[in-house]
Amino acid sequence: MKENHKDASAMEAQKQECDITQEMEFAPSYRWQHWIRALSIVILIITGFYIAEPIITPIASSQPDNFMYALFRSWHIIFGFVLTWVVLYKSYLFLFGKKNKMERKAIKDIFNIKVWFQQIGYYLLISKHPKLKGVYNPLQFMAYFAFYLMIFLLIITGFVLYVHVYHNGLGAFMYEPMRAVEAMMGGLAMVREIHHIAMWGVILFMLGHIYMAIYNAVFVKEGAMDAIFSGIKWHKKH
Ligand code: HEM
Repeated sequence: MKENHKDASAMEAQKQECDITQEMEFAPSYRWQHWIRALSIVILIITGFYIAEPIITPIASSQPDNFMYALFRSWHIIFGFVLTWVVLYKSYLFLFGKKNKMERKAIKDIFNIKVWFQQIGYYLLISKHPKLKGVYNPLQFMAYFAFYLMIFLLIITGFVLYVHVYHNGLGAFMYEPMRAVEAMMGGLAMVREIHHIAMWGVILFMLGHIYMAIYNAVFVKEGAMDAIFSGIKWHKKH
């Protein structure tokens, strides 16, 4: 009797397994760029806070070799360049990548007012999730759009600040154009202010992003969170 019961539940589990399909959602290059970007942003926030408010000072020494501020700044600039390259690569994927067609298709839903209302209703627990053309809903797409605006603002203002602390090579090459950007933004102090405020925009986005990732993992149960590690997402067939 017990054996029969075991067989029935095993069969049920197998049936359920067949009702689920797996799909390669994110290619390895996509996952790598996501995590390199995330790591760079975290390091830039930590080092950025230190640059804004140097809360620790090195132990006093008779040797002039305790350049802690310069050390924080150099790691900030190194990861500033890493972030710049990865963001350019991601922008290229979004605009031209063959596998990123579904990301571009999400633009269509932005112009559909019905999808906006349904999506807001879904978050308010009063309507079903809308059928989407792309991979992002309109609210999600706008949040990502604002995030990239902040990141590009951080990159541009970051380079204006960079030409003032590094004067050779690329620093020299970018000096004139960046000084023009600096004048357009209202001077160096203003550039630093904008750079700082944009950081808070990125922090707010990250909080929302992590919250939504956990929400999807818990309630939607399609492995959305796992997908950015393994690449694989799960869908129910019906
Ligand atoms: C997520 C991206 C970034 C964040 C969160 C960030 C954050 C910050 C913060 C908070 C400051 C201090 C501003 C203040 O004094 O209030 C700063 C300064 C600075 N950042 Fe960034 N930043 C980012 C990206 C970049 C990039 C892409 C570059 C370009 C290389 C860059 C280069 C600089 C430089 C040169 C300074 C000034 C250093 C100094 O004054 O000695 N940053 N950053």
